[in-house]
Amino acid sequence: MKNTYFLTTAIDYSNAPPHLGHAYEKITADVIARHQRLRGKDVFFLMGLDEHGTKNEKAAKEKGVSPEVHCDEIAEKYIETWAKLNISYDSFIRTTEEKHKEAVKKIFIRLQEQGDIYKKSYQGLYCFGCEAFYLEKDLDEKGLCPDHKRAPELVSEENYFFKITKYKQKIKEHIINNPGFIQPESRKNEVLNLLEDFEDISVSRETVKWGIKVPGDDKQVIYVWLDALNNYITALGFESNDDSNFKKFWPARVQIVGKDILRFHAIIWPAILFALGIDLPECIYSHGFITIGGTKISKTIGNVIKPEDLINKYQTDGLRYFIIREMNYGNDGDFAAEFNEDKSFSKCEILENRVNADLANNLGNSLNRIVSSILAKNCEGIVPERFLEAEKDFPDFIEKTKDKVGESMDKFALQDSVISVWDLVNKLNKYIDSEAPWNLAKRAAEDSSVTPYFHGVLYTCLETLRIIAILASPYIPEITQKLWEQLGINESLQAQNWDNIKWGILKSGTETKKGDLIYPRIDSKLADKSKKRSS
Ligand code: MSP
Repeated sequence: MKNTYFLTTAIDYSNAPPHLGHAYEKITADVIARHQRLRGKDVFFLMGLDEHGTKNEKAAKEKGVSPEVHCDEIAEKYIETWAKLNISYDSFIRTTEEKHKEAVKKIFIRLQEQGDIYKKSYQGLYCFGCEAFYLEKDLDEKGLCPDHKRAPELVSEENYFFKITKYKQKIKEHIINNPGFIQPESRKNEVLNLLEDFEDISVSRETVKWGIKVPGDDKQVIYVWLDALNNYITALGFESNDDSNFKKFWPARVQIVGKDILRFHAIIWPAILFALGIDLPECIYSHGFITIGGTKISKTIGNVIKPEDLINKYQTDGLRYFIIREMNYGNDGDFAAEFNEDKSFSKCEILENRVNADLANNLGNSLNRIVSSILAKNCEGIVPERFLEAEKDFPDFIEKTKDKVGESMDKFALQDSVISVWDLVNKLNKYIDSEAPWNLAKRAAEDSSVTPYFHGVLYTCLETLRIIAILASPYIPEITQKLWEQLGINESLQAQNWDNIKWGILKSGTETKKGDLIYPRIDSKLADKSKKRSS
């Protein structure tokens, strides 16, 4: 089996800056990418921006700038936000790049030459929000687009069409014969039902100006989805001078998309790949949506939360941890936020409770009590010797945790994986309470025969913290880095891999470093009270 791991996210429309929903998808993908790197995989993590089409054209017009200028401004914003969120992508594609545009044209010509793209007149109901035609039966009871709750417009054009119907049977068989192809499993039937009535789709637009021109027909631009979907292979150099990454990394192990765009990825995308004679990705994973207080994130409702608002208040890792810990990846999840009168973000109490309990208390305090307090006072900060009796069932529990985390991540059960890591954190916390090393220190001062056990307890705590740092690094890279520095281990945290999750690697004699709290408690209630007092 190949050791490469290519994963992608949807490329976001560059009509507006990123919101919490976009950040959700990128954080989850980043956790998977970091975890697979830890497992020793040669990871290629691709993200990017979908810069063509009506939405982007319209947004530029509203701003009074050219689409090029608009896209550049938005791209800067996205890249800045992803950096703040510590998203470790390997490549960031923009569909306005020459390399992409040239490759898409070549793909179009190839499909045309083999008869999979043909021209015909067409009239249909078009939703500009989805950039897709709808059949009447797929609209809601009021005749509106089910996603955008807007009436689609009747559009008639002479367009180029893509012969999806030719590949329908093959797609159906692929979905049925490869149970892991569409995940979560629960979305499979939805795709199979949609596939039943799927017709050839129009892959060019006369009404849209901002896009890749149809080769040999300047009046039309290539349909934004045919343009955008191909990013997954053009970014790897498909149909370019250098396709070495394509040869090395394709097919993707997982392509992560929101549930709203599953049909494009589970039907149109496989049809394109079949037509090009290319392998299909191993898995299309369709995640749920974040709602805010039960409602869809929307500018009109005024509940858009900028990732920066959350980072400023809770730090990057506070947000990352909460998202993975509280949301069930395949399902929708609510972000119960409170807003100020001017509609700016105020706070999210469930997030505060969660990060205070898990990051500040259970993880942060364990580290603080052991390294900055007991070890510094009693052992000059030096990691002491192991003592078998003090280790209880930790070595065994850690092996089991490692297996559970790996298995959950392989199933994209991100929430389960992080819960398993925190079972270990909580076990350590309880161990510290029950072994009470501060009492052992006193006893050891009076009776030296207690010393080996006391030291063994400290070693057990430190070795567990070392393993926690590695296991938790994909979720909370900044906090675990701080933890790692306090442990004083020479090799970097980034250099660690799955084999380092083994009991007994921490060397006695290592010099730990006292440090600040790795995640200070959030106390909005106190902040609220002091705000009231000062006003
Ligand atoms: N440009 C297309 C994707 C093309 S992929 C070849 C698009 N862009 S988008 O900006 O509308 O959405 C980008 C991703 O963000 C999608 O996977 C979408 O499902 C996801 N999300 C947008 N809002 C979301 C939430 N509120 N919650 C979770 N994910 C959401 O579609």
